[in-house]
Amino acid sequence: MTEQHLVVAEEHSRHNSMVKHLVSMAPFALDPGRLPRRPSKSLFRSAVPLTECWRGGSPTAQGSRPYALGVTVARYDAVADFYEAGWVDTYDDATSVTFLQLLGPLDGLRVLDIACGHGRLSRELARRGAQVTAVDLSTALLEKARAAEGQEPLGICYLHADIASGGLAHAGTFDAVSCSFGLSDIDDLDGALRTVSKALQPGGPFVFSLLHPCFSGGGPVSGSWPSGATYYDEGWWLPEGRASSLRRRVGANHRMLSTYLNSLAAHGLHLDRIAEPAPPAEWTDRAIDASRLPAFLVVRCLKAERHC
Ligand SMILES: C[S@@+](CC[C@H](N)C(=O)[O-])C[C@H]1O[C@@H](n2cnc3c(N)ncnc32)[C@H](O)[C@@H]1O
Repeated sequence: MTEQHLVVAEEHSRHNSMVKHLVSMAPFALDPGRLPRRPSKSLFRSAVPLTECWRGGSPTAQGSRPYALGVTVARYDAVADFYEAGWVDTYDDATSVTFLQLLGPLDGLRVLDIACGHGRLSRELARRGAQVTAVDLSTALLEKARAAEGQEPLGICYLHADIASGGLAHAGTFDAVSCSFGLSDIDDLDGALRTVSKALQPGGPFVFSLLHPCFSGGGPVSGSWPSGATYYDEGWWLPEGRASSLRRRVGANHRMLSTYLNSLAAHGLHLDRIAEPAPPAEWTDRAIDASRLPAFLVVRCLKAERHC
């Protein structure tokens, strides 16, 4: 990838004291029982031009302190080993099958995989013939992604960036954009969708998967919002369900379905297909209620032919 610029978060020592101050001012951020305010945009940023795929070092080391509000924090740095071990390169579950179907044939396409984590999906896109650029906020997960690229070279370009913090320098650089279970981790949805819209060619698909925003949970599986709140209370929270092993650690942003669809439309990303794959078999066994509700959502939007 040449002449590509992403605005990335940059952390200085003076920022650390600001982060501590913000955390001390926001005790609710550490209280899983309460919904905090929607996190605001990163306070400190600088544009770092990425003239080629950046493959080493850490120009944008993120603070690893989880759940600080007011700054963009790479929450997955603290759980990278756990995440890599639990989310492996298999794609035969109903959500992955649907996701790949909605993306369609990828041979020769330039695909931007946002919130790529350790590259689980990025690798499958590349195996299917896509030229993949993959972006994530977590340096620890990107290290794992690059290590996997060393073991199985697929030509994936991994970039460390906050996808919400700025735009690509050149509009329409990508034929398709994907985001597997990342939107509820991204604090600034509006900023992320702005980047997606700018990156896509007119008519290009943006495919994403999510825990269904309307899923209220069941048994040991946490839903999309806290049991003490309602579907209409949006914000970041920390689930407690025994079976929600990842979300117990990294939390999630709850947004109503209408918020997602209206934000997508505002960025010229118009709904084309929507699917509600069945929950995994173990949820059926362990939590009868969970198997009776739509647990996952996979959506394909198309970038409007004309969008300012
Ligand atoms: C549940 S993981 C999904 C990883 C991968 N897509 C997969 O399917 O395995 C969510 C990812 O979103 C990333 N993330 C959260 N906020 C982000 C942001 N603002 N910019 C880029 N990545 C972000 C996290 O670091 C994490 O890797």
